[in-house]
This record gives sequence, C-alpha cells and structure tokens, in this order.
Amino acid sequence: MFRIDVITIFPELFETFRQTSLLGAAREAGTLSIETHDLRSYTEDVHRSVDDEPYGGGPGMVMKPEPLVRAIEELAGEKGPDREARGAFVVLLSPQGRRLDQKEVRSLAGRSHLVLVCGRYEGIDQRAIDLAVDQELSIGDYVLSGGEVPAMALIEATTRLVPGVIGNPESLVVESFEKGMLEGPSYTRPAQFRGQSVPEVLRSGDHGKISRWREERARERTQERRPDLLEQRPPSGEKR
Ligand SMILES: C[S@@+](CC[C@H](N)C(=O)[O-])C[C@H]1O[C@@H](n2cnc3c(N)ncnc32)[C@H](O)[C@@H]1O
Repeated sequence: MFRIDVITIFPELFETFRQTSLLGAAREAGTLSIETHDLRSYTEDVHRSVDDEPYGGGPGMVMKPEPLVRAIEELAGEKGPDREARGAFVVLLSPQGRRLDQKEVRSLAGRSHLVLVCGRYEGIDQRAIDLAVDQELSIGDYVLSGGEVPAMALIEATTRLVPGVIGNPESLVVESFEKGMLEGPSYTRPAQFRGQSVPEVLRSGDHGKISRWREERARERTQERRPDLLEQRPPSGEKR
C-alpha cells in the first residue's frame, strides 16, 4: 500500500478530495492510504499555538518548530537512518522548493510513504526544515496562502503513477511529459459539432495510421507550445 500522511492546520480541506474519484476508489481498494494530521494536536500549550511572531520583526507570523518536528518525527521517524529504515520521505510544500515536474513525480511515486507538510502564514521556522524535512517542492513560481492546494496537486500527480490507482495503465503511457512531449488533441462523439468534424483518420479503424497520426500531432503541438521539451528529449524518445 502507498501511504501518504499530510500535516496541516486545515485537515477538513482534504476530506472530499480524498474520497472522490480515483483517490476514493484506490483508498477503498486498499491500494492507497491518505491520512491527515491536525498540527494543533501536536502542540503542548493550552492555546494549541502553531505560530508566533518572527524574530527580528516584520509582518505576519511564523510556524513554530516544536509541534511540526514532533508531528513529522512521529509519522516518519527522525531524519537520517531511522527514517530511511522506515521508508518514509518528508516533503515540505514551499514556493522556495525545487519546481515539481513529471520526473520528480515519478521519483515520488517510486517511494512507499510520503509525509507532506503544509505551511501557512509567512512560512516555517528554518530549524524545523533543517532538522526534519527531506525535500522542499514548489508547484510553481507564485505564492499561495498555504501548502494544502500544492499538497493536493502533488498527491494527484503522484498517485496516478502508483500501480493499481488508474484502471487502465495504458493511459499513463500516452500522457503529456511521459515521452518528453505533450499529448495531441482528443475527440469524442458527435463526429460533427458546430460545423467542425473529427479528423477522418480517427474514424478509419486503422490502428497503425491512428497511432502515426497521434505521434505527429503530439510532436507538432509540443513544437508549437513547448519546444523546450523536445530539446530535452533523449534521442530514442524513451522515458527519462
Ligand atoms: C504565504 S506562503 C509563505 C511564503 C513565504 N513567505 C515566502 O515568501 O517564500 C505560506 C505557505 O504556502 C505554501 N505555498 C505557497 N506557495 C507555494 C507554492 N508555489 N508551492 C508550494 N507551496 C506553496 C507553503 O507551504 C508556504 O509555507
């Protein structure tokens, strides 16, 4: 079973998310576990405080290190050999992290236990990051108010690659970024819509022709929209 634990001050945000569609089905089938952990339950003061004013002054609040490190270590063990032996990997969602891409997603999907830490406020006390986080990942060069939406993006992208989560694994092979290209256009019924027809070849039943047509459209689209992907592509077109 692929296990994901999420540390957040808003566990309720994940409730419908983890029950819906592929994630819900995979959890019911026992392929996946997604549990949320309220950071406030790892506090030890009466006010259950998870944040405090920044040293040196400045706007906003900073997440305190004690509850965070306590939560992370309870779920993943101490950073280093203890954690490695448990097979856990701790990711902090952060705009300052390495940008998440399909290669990174593939590597995360190859693990068996992820602990995702969602920041809030102005960020997290640096000592908690140094002591307890294995990797910082960003979902793009913009700033959100919290790590929950980035954690959901990471969960969806990663779990799609976990065997058994997607019914037909064939659909993963043709997807954008898998062969260093974008996927080409898709069509469904009706064959005519507002004067526009589905390309004839897709209705021909000739699988060889269809697959060549798809490959050509994928290449064209990638050239037009993301030529950088073609430049990075290995010569054989195999997965990186
Ligand atoms: C308002 S942000 C803090 C931004 C921080 N003050 C800075 O300038 O780098 C609060 C939290 O949202 C999450 N977050 C915001 N943008 C993100 C992004 N692009 N990718 C991943 N996490 C993000 C992080 O967990 C972060 O700790």
